[in-house]
Amino acid sequence: MAIPRETVEQILQAARIEEVVGEFVTLKKRGSNLWGNCPFHNEKTPSFSVNPARNIFKCFGCGKAGDSAKFLMEHEHFTYPEALRYLAKKYNIKIEEKQQTAEEIMQQSIREKMFNINEFADKYFVDTLWNTEEGKTIGLEYFRERGYFDPIIEKFHLGYNPDSAHWDAFTEHAKKNGYSEELLEQIGLSIKGSKGLYDRYHGRVMFPIHSLTGRVIGFGGRILVNDKKSPKYQNSPESEIYDKKQTLYGIYFAKNAIARQDECILVEGYFDVLRMHQIGIENVVASSGTSLTMEQIRLVKRYTKNITMLYDGDAAGVHAALRGTDMILSEGMNVRVVVLPPEHDPDTFGKEFSVDYVSNYLKENAKDFIRFKTELLLKDAENDPIKRGQVIRDIVETISVIPDSIFRITYVKECSRLLDMPEQTLTNELNKILRAKLKKSLGVEGEAIPEPETTTPKQEETVEDQLPAGYYQERDLVRLLLMFGKEMITEERLDENEEKVYEQVSVAQLIIDELKMDGIVFTNVVNKKIFDIFDKALDEGYIPDDQVFTSNEDETIAQLAADLLFSPYKLDQWNKYSIYVTQEENNLRATVLSSLYRYKDLIIEERRKAVEEELKNTTDAADQMILLKQKKELDDIRKQINKELGIVIAK
Ligand code: UTP
Ligand code: MN
Repeated sequence: MAIPRETVEQILQAARIEEVVGEFVTLKKRGSNLWGNCPFHNEKTPSFSVNPARNIFKCFGCGKAGDSAKFLMEHEHFTYPEALRYLAKKYNIKIEEKQQTAEEIMQQSIREKMFNINEFADKYFVDTLWNTEEGKTIGLEYFRERGYFDPIIEKFHLGYNPDSAHWDAFTEHAKKNGYSEELLEQIGLSIKGSKGLYDRYHGRVMFPIHSLTGRVIGFGGRILVNDKKSPKYQNSPESEIYDKKQTLYGIYFAKNAIARQDECILVEGYFDVLRMHQIGIENVVASSGTSLTMEQIRLVKRYTKNITMLYDGDAAGVHAALRGTDMILSEGMNVRVVVLPPEHDPDTFGKEFSVDYVSNYLKENAKDFIRFKTELLLKDAENDPIKRGQVIRDIVETISVIPDSIFRITYVKECSRLLDMPEQTLTNELNKILRAKLKKSLGVEGEAIPEPETTTPKQEETVEDQLPAGYYQERDLVRLLLMFGKEMITEERLDENEEKVYEQVSVAQLIIDELKMDGIVFTNVVNKKIFDIFDKALDEGYIPDDQVFTSNEDETIAQLAADLLFSPYKLDQWNKYSIYVTQEENNLRATVLSSLYRYKDLIIEERRKAVEEELKNTTDAADQMILLKQKKELDDIRKQINKELGIVIAK
């Protein structure tokens, strides 16, 4: 149910950042801000700061920053609506929910009934496992035989469904307790046969599947006998409360560890999750044998951006590791792969070796996914040139799904080394794919969007002398606007009390403001157009998306934007012109400011030269006075710029 926009604004205004954060972090006042130890990373000296005036927080150690809702999303792993509801409750703001329809109320009660019967079944299976003769000798013995200890069996609510003569022990028990046949069948605990309802899981050990909040939404049951006709695992069918593609086995027990360790280990099976927990590795969930879905990935993303896939050492396991990974990459997450020794799955591996050995193995064998894939495919291709060509396309295809251009560039470099291929060849291939995607997203498939000009840098070199001052610097600023316009950086300034205050400002705002302040206008027409779009949008209070430029109806804008966003080759050329692009994502503030100041310095220098020229040609004393004053002013600005530049570079 959506919260009305006005209510959202009301909530965010009412929320006091220092009060919201104060519930979780001890804050001390220092200057105009409050400080404390950051709850998002380990530290001994406080670098976590709360700014009551701007109603935001920011950690100068790990970089997390934002408003009250953002804090709750990070700290409590709330979704945005959950954070808003929490704040509304705290500040007594009533959220006008829209009236539920009769049908919605019906749905609601069906869901409640389903949760109820699952809870009932869960209790029954657990009780049967521990307290009945059959449960103990068959079910419990099975788990113990496989090397599982009682605490883990209890923690995960493992159970047993008896194997009675008519296969209906549970179904009869449920009916006696007032649960309807219809509900039993709907939720999938029972199946309708020719002689009536019988237990779906008869004679199986039971794994309840928990939701994020710990409610039982479904079951998996493992067979204990050799029976080629029955599948090894029976699982609940989908229902109003069980959506397989949104579910990860073990998430309820793993979520805190995932957040704490900032990593999620992904395995395939129920037992793999159990084993890892038993040996003390708790940030583990299972995709339960199916290939990963986008929804599952987003579920993990609520807690961490780092996924490690832990797969069996056999060919099938390695193959499984390749599936689903492009999806994770396209969410901007980091994927690593660990392949176990042949014959092992995480369950057997954890049983055979000590926890130290397993942890070490994970640490030492975790391979960045792109590297993993490249090496794997390369091994297959050997020296077959046709296969090699396919490998290259395959790898570049994978790189192309990564949303962050900086990471794409890094991977192109790395793969060029691994594949022993010129970087430019890979870049060309990558650009081709990106262009095709762009065309597709713009709905202009088949139309000619000019290829990125891979030869341009050479031309630019030859015409270098005729280029206006600051040509490359100007382009670089446009690139920074497009790539990082929305990124927030922290600016230091002195307030009325001469105290240092930190302000969050977007890269776009900073660049545009700084240029306007000195009346600097881009000389290149296309650059100027892009500048104007940013300027206008900022006036209206927003920062335009990449899409505004890459899909701009003005071809020259669209092309330049695509070029700047896609082509790493040019960046390499630009390094020659003292534009520092290395690791710029790590130190965005320094990157932006040094670009900005270098550019300004050039422009001001140009103006100064012009003034000097004029001075030479002037004999009028009054004019000379004015020009000298102008020259002095420009000198002062340059001094100031160079001072700032010195500070930025020194940092
Ligand atoms: P595996 O065949 O690897 O089983 O399937 P496992 O988890 O190692 O189980 P054990 O060790 O043989 O007892 C991995 C996962 O795929 C799903 C289950 O979630 C299982 O844990 N699966 C497998 C099914 O849903 N149905 C099946 O018939 C088999
Ligand atoms: Mn197994």
